[in-house]
This record gives sequence, structure tokens and C-alpha cells, in this order.
Amino acid sequence: MTDITEILRSFSAQFNQNLQLCFPSVDGAENRVIEAMKYSVMNGGKRLRPYLVCECASLFGVDYQTAFPAAASLEMLHSYSLIHDDLPAMDNDDLRRGKPTCHKQFDEATAILAGDGLLTYAFEYLANSLEIKPEMRLALIQLLSSAAGAFGGMVAGQTLDLYAAPTGSKTADEAIITRLEEMKTGRLLRYACEAGAVLGQASPQERQIIVSYSRKIGQAFQITDDILDREGDQNLVGKTLHKDDSQNKFTFVSYYGIEPARQKAIQLINEAIAEISAFGEKSANLQKLAQYIIDRNH
Ligand code: IPE
Ligand code: IPE
Ligand code: MG
Ligand code: MG
Ligand code: MG
Repeated sequence: MTDITEILRSFSAQFNQNLQLCFPSVDGAENRVIEAMKYSVMNGGKRLRPYLVCECASLFGVDYQTAFPAAASLEMLHSYSLIHDDLPAMDNDDLRRGKPTCHKQFDEATAILAGDGLLTYAFEYLANSLEIKPEMRLALIQLLSSAAGAFGGMVAGQTLDLYAAPTGSKTADEAIITRLEEMKTGRLLRYACEAGAVLGQASPQERQIIVSYSRKIGQAFQITDDILDREGDQNLVGKTLHKDDSQNKFTFVSYYGIEPARQKAIQLINEAIAEISAFGEKSANLQKLAQYIIDRNH
């Protein structure tokens, strides 16, 4: 049984090689923004979202080559979300994936443009991926744009992350945190899994299992991110720690405390593993990945 960290390492090695080729240099001064896009995409992310796309697709026998455009475009879009998340106007972070953030390495205007460039290129790349049938490509574009956007997607979640505050009512606060984390982090992780289901032409029942798995790992993923922010090792996490407390972020950890949040994440992951095991032996890696989401140190 191969360890999930080894599986992710070997997946990332191949994925990074292919992803690099999506960013040719251009003649002209605008190459600066392409360098900034490449800097932010090719800098050691865990590649969990692309891995989920490929692994969910492989439940249905879809190969890596066919899943790659959906995986690559999602990682481009995710990297844009990180560049903008780190900007001084948002989380004001200096460190990302163990390296200076895009605006520190380049400058703020270039970082804004690099984010814009990655967001738009993600859709351009996906739309041009002729190896995916046109109706499937359209379905993926619809799903990805809605997962990323302001109407219940990542941009909506990032807005709540910046402006939501506890109301004093337990029921209202629990609903706010759940919605916030589901939108800001959950939607892209859910898209990763759903893209695999679209490529694999999953039945409605199969898709429903995959969606439920993705929502649970998505919530557990953000809880773990918040736990690592509080008690991780900065050299491993590769981001400045204690940002959530210093910026008064409204998270599961700040609201419930670290132990209840950890218990909640464990419970979600146990449920996710039980659900995805309906796919039998083929889901072994997705089960391991779910466990990794809460066991990880970065
Ligand atoms: C970080 O995501 C942003 C969140 C949604 C918490 P990851 O932890 O997947 O970041 P990388 O891609 O591995 O750097
Ligand atoms: C960011 O959440 C989620 C995104 C949509 C980028 P965080 O602000 O907690 O992510 P990190 O900790 O900076 O990676
Ligand atoms: Mg943030
Ligand atoms: Mg942040
Ligand atoms: Mg965080």
C-alpha cells in the first residue's frame, strides 16, 4: 500500500512538468506578468485540487491525459485566489508556499494582474482543450465559473471572510461560519471532485456520493488550515502563522476552540471515507487523501 504522501509526490512531479508547458514566455515587456503567473503557479503547492480531479475521474476509468486540462485550469484559478488573498488589501501576507508572496517578489500591481491573468487563462485553457467533448467542456466551464464566483462561490466566501463578524446568536453564527468556509474553500474542492464526475459521466447517484464526500473534505480542509495557522510549524506550513487571530478572522477554530474544531474535522473525514468507500477498492486513494487532509502538517 503506497503512502499518500508518496502518491501525491509522484502525481505532483508529473503534473508540474505538464503545467509548466502551459506558460510559454512571450516577447515584449508583458512577459513580466507571465513570469509572475508562473512564479505563483510553479512554486510548490500541494496540488490537492488537481489530484482530486484526476483521482475522481479515474473512478470512472478516465485517464490522466483527459483529466489534465480540468486539473490544470483549476490549479491556475486556485493560484489566482491565493495571490489576491495575500494582497495587502486582503490578508497582507509576505509568505506563500515558503516563498515571498507574488506582490513581495514583484509588486502589487503586477500581483493583481498576475491574478487576473491566471483567472482568465484558466478559462481560456479549459475552453481550448479540444480533447474534452464540447458539451463536457461547457459543463465544466459552467461549474468552475459558479464555484469561483460571487454568487455563492469562492469570491462570495472571501467577502464573508473579510467582513463577517459574530452576531451573538449561536444559530446565526454557526450558519455564517459554515457558509463562509463552504464558499471560500469548499466550492473549489467540490468542483475538483465534480469535474471528475463530469468527465466520467457519473450517474446522478454516483455524483451525489462524490459531492457529499467533497463537501465534507472541504470543510475539514479549512478547519485544518485554521488549526495549522494557530499551531503549525511555520517552516513546514510555508505561510506566516497566527494571521487569523491577529486579523480577527471568524473561523471554526476561533469560534469553537481548537479541540472541538479538531473533533469536527475528524468526524467529517470519517463520514467522507465511509461514503466514498461505496466505490470499493477504486476509492482507496480518495480514502487516504481524506485522512491526509486532517493529518497534514502543511
Ligand atoms: C490554501 O490552499 C488556501 C485555502 C483554501 C486554505 P492549499 O493548502 O491547498 O494551498 P497550496 O496549493 O497547497 O499552496
Ligand atoms: C483563503 O483562506 C482561501 C482562498 C480562497 C484563497 P485563507 O486566507 O485562510 O488561506 P491561507 O491560510 O492564506 O492559505
Ligand atoms: Mg484569506
Ligand atoms: Mg490568507
Ligand atoms: Mg488560512
